[in-house]
Amino acid sequence: MKMIKNTLFSQTPIEVGQGSTKDNYIMAIESSCDETACAIVKNGREVIANIVASQIKTHEKFGGVIPEIAAREHLDSINVVIDEAFSQAKEIANIEPKDITAFAGTVGPGLVGCLLVGLNAAKTLALVYDKPFIGVNHLNAHLCANYLDTDLKPPFMALLVSGGHTQIIDVKSYSEQTIIGETIDDAVGEAYDKVARLIGLPYPGGPKLDKMAQEGNPKAYLLPKAKVNEFDFSFSGLKTAVLRLIKQLKADNNTENLSEDIIKDVCASFQECVSSTLVKKVKKALEQSGYNQVVIAGGVAANSEIRKKMFALQDEGYKVFAPPMKYCTDNAAMVASCAYFNTNTFDDINVEVFSRVK
Ligand code: KG4
Ligand code: ZN
Repeated sequence: MKMIKNTLFSQTPIEVGQGSTKDNYIMAIESSCDETACAIVKNGREVIANIVASQIKTHEKFGGVIPEIAAREHLDSINVVIDEAFSQAKEIANIEPKDITAFAGTVGPGLVGCLLVGLNAAKTLALVYDKPFIGVNHLNAHLCANYLDTDLKPPFMALLVSGGHTQIIDVKSYSEQTIIGETIDDAVGEAYDKVARLIGLPYPGGPKLDKMAQEGNPKAYLLPKAKVNEFDFSFSGLKTAVLRLIKQLKADNNTENLSEDIIKDVCASFQECVSSTLVKKVKKALEQSGYNQVVIAGGVAANSEIRKKMFALQDEGYKVFAPPMKYCTDNAAMVASCAYFNTNTFDDINVEVFSRVK
């Protein structure tokens, strides 16, 4: 538990986090990329409201997220998701704005124009209701998605796989974490999106590639595994290998339009290469740590094969946690949980947004 001062007015410290003598209701806002989200979470684990406005329809037209357009869309949606979260909390738990313990917002990493919208909304709410403000790191929030609706407690090993990051993290306690390995080039989600584009799948490519892969033969093509340090990753060579494979297949079949069956096999082979590399390294890290718990987090934690291989670790006696799909992709419930568990947070209303991890 921490005593955090309110923002500007009464300056009376308020108890926030584990060990508080009163139940905590944290309202959080997330707007780092293309989801505008607001949630209210009780004591870091119990989701009272979880509202997400996705911009997928807008960005589909452009084949990717255009930062300026995304920021404008956050402006259009932000008040809607906040109102919706408040009315859901009233209906479900009879919680009113005055009952909120603290307001949290994502500070970074993310798109600066997008982050500014959500962060300023969260700070404004803290000022208006005279409650503490807590800034949250988006990556830590993804990890904390595993605390929602579970009884997971550190220590555990974590695989964080998102559009921008691929890391193996040793979570020693709620607040103490060490990155023990990461990608030296592309993130897994980035590799999925780039390969999906090569194959001609529309945005967002990752989930579509996953779907195709489930219908293909994972042993159809042998793709190279990068040689890097024990717990690090590299996916840019794999992407080039897929590009070469597609060119070769087009030449062999004497066509510019590969059959759907061939594409499905390429997807499955790519997915096999990525998922086996990830899980092999996580397993090694687990063995080295002596922990018996492991979690996955981040948007790519929604991937069917990565989940399957991670859950197979249960057969070896490990406890495996993976957030349900709605908490894998960007949401604000994970941000609220992160604020409650005080995981690398910034308890300062003057905190500024940042685009990359410093
Ligand atoms: O965590 P996230 O929402 O964004 C960041 O914070 O970076 O993750 C988005 C990424 C995208 O690259 C998307 O293609 C990928 O997650 N993704 C998937 C799947 N679902 C989402 N990649 C592979 N398989 C999926 N099922
Ligand atoms: Zn994310």
